[in-house]
Amino acid sequence: MNVLLTGITGQLGTAVAEIAPRRGARVVPLVRRARPGQVPFERAFPSLASAKVTGDVREPFWGLGEADLDELSDSVDAVVNLAGDTNWAGSGRDLYAVNVLGARNGYDVARELQRRSGRRVVYTYASSIFVAGGTLGRIAENPLAPDRHRTAYEHSKWLAERELEREHGPGDPDILISRVAALLGDSRTGATRKRNSLYLLAERWDELPGRVLPAMRGAKVDVLPRDVAAGTLLDAVAGLHRSGPHPEPVITHLAAGERAPTIRGLLEVARALSPLSFGTWLRLVPASAEQVLWLSANAERFLPLSQAWRNSVVGLRYIGLDRVMERGRLAELVDGPLPEPSTELLARLLFDLPAPQRPLAPADSGLSRFLA
Ligand SMILES: NC(=O)c1ccc[n+]([C@@H]2O[C@H](COP(=O)([O-])OP(=O)(O)OC[C@H]3O[C@@H](n4cnc5c(N)ncnc54)[C@H](OP(=O)(O)O)[C@@H]3O)[C@@H](O)[C@H]2O)c1
Repeated sequence: MNVLLTGITGQLGTAVAEIAPRRGARVVPLVRRARPGQVPFERAFPSLASAKVTGDVREPFWGLGEADLDELSDSVDAVVNLAGDTNWAGSGRDLYAVNVLGARNGYDVARELQRRSGRRVVYTYASSIFVAGGTLGRIAENPLAPDRHRTAYEHSKWLAERELEREHGPGDPDILISRVAALLGDSRTGATRKRNSLYLLAERWDELPGRVLPAMRGAKVDVLPRDVAAGTLLDAVAGLHRSGPHPEPVITHLAAGERAPTIRGLLEVARALSPLSFGTWLRLVPASAEQVLWLSANAERFLPLSQAWRNSVVGLRYIGLDRVMERGRLAELVDGPLPEPSTELLARLLFDLPAPQRPLAPADSGLSRFLA
């Protein structure tokens, strides 16, 4: 499978690029022309430097010219759009441009490549499980209704999903809307691109006011290591390509689903693994969904919060709500088992806890008498 990939320099894209060769996928990265202050693409991904095309998802056809589109149409089977504005406290305008227009422009690219090549091309958009907004309980892999609780970020991802549902017509490329869970670093090395998303909990650990964390009883933390998510994503894209045509966008939850730990379980496992890594322990305070949602959306109206703190406060809703992401449709697309990260692994990655010591067998002086 040949994949035109955006967002390769991000948390999920980095993992997709690493894992693609093992999944038999060849990646053509689409990278922004100017990335001030960031490690140059060629230095970060030397093996992909010659394959890259330049563009910007906010532009029509992602800014790809005739020559690029012609060349890409010779080989590309899947367009995978992982580019996103992932600032939970970002401006509605920026979020809309990258997350909504970017999603639609990408679909135009997939359509155009299919038209030029006459071969089937599929399109994948990385949405977020957080489009669920304030919805609780079991969340189906279906389109979601409007919801007054969505943040600007969640709203932009939801609008993108709706836009793609609207755009899709008979004969158009199949669409996979992959609602991605919160991501942690690599499951083997812990490598992470940023300490954003759930890492904010670890980063703020010592500064949480009152040492309390409001959460519903039974609140779950749906989170995956980035390499686990990347492998399953590529499997789902391949599954979509194999199984089409699909009359409607296929929505899946790229998540731990029913295997996601509770926030209480995750914290207790972390403490049991490494009690000395935590200063003062914090208390989980039972709260209603309304309280968690209200606090995470409105604290900034009453407290002077920096951008970083606003992100952290928004994150309360990602660890404080009791809901389960269903994965039945993901299972239909993916051959093999669904992600099941252990709570211990997640706790280690999130809090950067030391690796377990292998117990060494003590010298057994008792045995020496048999050797004499
Ligand atoms: N990480 C999570 O916990 C999480 C959870 C749920 C959903 N998701 C979704 O999964 C996707 C990937 O997330 P991530 O965590 O990997 O994101 P990330 O680390 O913030 O990276 C964002 C990527 O998008 C690229 N990008 C941003 N604006 C662009 C533009 N205008 N044109 C082209 N590329 C652009 C960035 O490129 P530059 O290097 O040029 O900036 C970067 O590669 C996003 O859609 C996100 O909403 C992520």
